[in-house]
Amino acid sequence: MKKLTLTLILTSLIACGGQGKQEEKKTEEKSTQTEVVDIVQKGEKLFQTKGCAGCHYPDKEKNHKLVGPGLKGVTKERTEEWLIAMIVNPDSMLKHDEEAKKQLKEYGTPMPNQNVSVEEAKAIIAYLRKISGG
Ligand code: HEC
Repeated sequence: MKKLTLTLILTSLIACGGQGKQEEKKTEEKSTQTEVVDIVQKGEKLFQTKGCAGCHYPDKEKNHKLVGPGLKGVTKERTEEWLIAMIVNPDSMLKHDEEAKKQLKEYGTPMPNQNVSVEEAKAIIAYLRKISGG
């Protein structure tokens, strides 16, 4: 049931995530290594511009609370699908996903929707993965 909800949320996200196409093409022309550096830098920038930094430390572990949990190590704890769903559509996740609901109980503040596309969420995750060391 949990899995199904997640799949539904993701499917609807991907279905309307067309705007990343152009950028994907551009990146394909570069070498793989530049691509990885690019996406991490893009993610770092997005972490600031999309307001994440106001509520999360990107470089401190979960127990370092700002408004929400520190995100260092989160890429080891959660799957990529789960993270994309949480970053792109926290409102649905906080309503339907058991893990997200549990966190809301703990933190008391619902994470707001920051208008992040799937493509942008992937860049943010690449940045968090780099910080978490894998
Ligand atoms: C207004 C504060 C706020 C903003 C802005 C915000 N978050 Fe959150 N975030 C939270 C809170 C609080 C939680 C814990 C769940 C809850 O209570 O909603 C959370 C949970 C998360 C989680 C799950 C953490 C875990 O341990 O499972 C991730 C990942 C996350 N946020 C990433 C982001 C990213 C990326 C952005 C920027 C696009 C962002 N958040 C913006 C407050 C925020």
